[in-house]
Amino acid sequence: MLSAHGFSLSSRVIAINGLLFALGTALLAFSPATVSSRPLWSEVIVLAVGLTVMIVANGVLVGGNLRPLDRLVSQLDRARSTEPIERLPVPRSGISHDLAESVNDLLGRIESGQRESSLAALAAQEAERARIAQELHDGVGQSLTAVLLEIGALTDDADPETARALAGVREATRASLDEVRGVARQLRPHVLEDLGLRSALAALTTELFSHGATHVRRGIMPGLPELDDPVELVVFRVAQEALTNVARHGRARTVELTLNQVGGDVVLTVDDDGIGIPTGAAGTGVRGMRERATLVGGHLEVGRRDGGGTRVRLVVPA
Ligand SMILES: Nc1ncnc2c1ncn2[C@@H]1O[C@H](COP(=O)(O)OP(=O)(O)OP(=O)(O)O)[C@@H](O)[C@H]1O
Ligand SMILES: [Mg+2]
Repeated sequence: MLSAHGFSLSSRVIAINGLLFALGTALLAFSPATVSSRPLWSEVIVLAVGLTVMIVANGVLVGGNLRPLDRLVSQLDRARSTEPIERLPVPRSGISHDLAESVNDLLGRIESGQRESSLAALAAQEAERARIAQELHDGVGQSLTAVLLEIGALTDDADPETARALAGVREATRASLDEVRGVARQLRPHVLEDLGLRSALAALTTELFSHGATHVRRGIMPGLPELDDPVELVVFRVAQEALTNVARHGRARTVELTLNQVGGDVVLTVDDDGIGIPTGAAGTGVRGMRERATLVGGHLEVGRRDGGGTRVRLVVPA
């Protein structure tokens, strides 16, 4: 039941109506006016004036109480169309004050519930990646290492021709082992845990571009605010996917990664001067970046740059 200052809305309406009925009855009882069994025109006019006065008074009094609620409902309608849902302005007093406060409180609780489940989803995703990374490292990685040792032992006793063949097999095995280790590393950014975001991003660019023709520029603002772990991880994962895309699809001469603080946000950009992403292209990679950004209350833009090439821009709350 809505109440402000101890009076519920229904009791106010009932009180207003009761007061008006009492006034009308008192007027009928104590005024000299009479109504004939066949009303005269003059009596009808008096009755009509009396009725009109009561209807108008009722409208003004009840309307005055309900209008703030109508305003609140239309404000809520407007607020619902925004993302995230805006808070209602809280009037200074009255029933609409109580209602706006309750609605705002409810919205706050819904939002923090959503945030918690998003973060839990993110943590679960990372835990799963870590498990796969561990399995790759301990399973396939260890077996390939064992195969390499075995080949080494066989080569020692082999004749020159077999030794040459074994050298080829060893190279292929070593390449596979490198690949497995690379995948495991990508799945679990140890550097992020051990050295922090700055060094992890540096390691990422070195790893991806040290052998290619693409030149890397990094501009990481000094004194960036400390980010929460999940937010830091999202920045790293988005940088990883954006840079991998440049390496795989960009055909760029230069790629530039910047990380800056803008107001209360941290902004990551990855710009390249390559062929440019086709408009509307969105595979698993781009969709994943966007999803991760939303999970921590940020947003992502991916598009072609004016001068050619692609820009990925991630904004997350610091
Ligand atoms: N920097 C870039 N330069 C040019 N094209 C790009 C760039 N980044 C993405 N693209 C294009 O956008 C498409 C979608 O990218 P997205 O990362 O979603 O998928 P993907 O890289 O093909 O596959 P994956 O799911 O492994 O990431 C790519 O296939 C590519 O054609
Ligand atoms: Mg991709």
